[in-house]
Amino acid sequence: MNTEENKLSKKREKSILELLDDAAASIDGSQEKTQSAHEEIELQLFSRLQRIGLNAIDRQHETLVRHLCNLYKVMVGIRLNGPTLKEDALLKITLDGLTEYTVKHFQEEENYMVYIGYPESDNHAKIHKEFLAKFLEIRNKIQESNSHLVNDLFFLVYKWLFDHINREDAKIATFYKP
Ligand SMILES: [Fe+2]
Ligand SMILES: [Fe+2]
Repeated sequence: MNTEENKLSKKREKSILELLDDAAASIDGSQEKTQSAHEEIELQLFSRLQRIGLNAIDRQHETLVRHLCNLYKVMVGIRLNGPTLKEDALLKITLDGLTEYTVKHFQEEENYMVYIGYPESDNHAKIHKEFLAKFLEIRNKIQESNSHLVNDLFFLVYKWLFDHINREDAKIATFYKP
């Protein structure tokens, strides 16, 4: 990425982060506004996702982004309503879903890399492992009644996921064209 692209990508990232904040702030609890803010966020999140060209992996990335959208919705719910019993229950279900799917996806992607003889598979698996450690550290704190940390978890995944897919996962597809 050259300097100009770098600047542009920074600018784009800032605007998306601002948009996330704006969307959360604009929701007043009315069904209609909540719905349209969520749709806007889904569009923004999916617009950052690039297809790498390997169908099975691309489909899993889409599912991961859906889990991230769910986490965003819970984050907004907690911001609006506070950590009520209902929000806590939703948070637990959402975190379990995201965690389970992330672990499954990493495992399957790692198996795939070994299967095709991808030379950087060890390093790629190490990147997954390091991310997962950070993710689980925050997830565990959230589960010990620190639901406000859901924002930290959302931004950790948000910042890491697209960069990883668009850069690291894309290299797998460059190496192997089925
Ligand atoms: Fe991936
Ligand atoms: Fe990966």
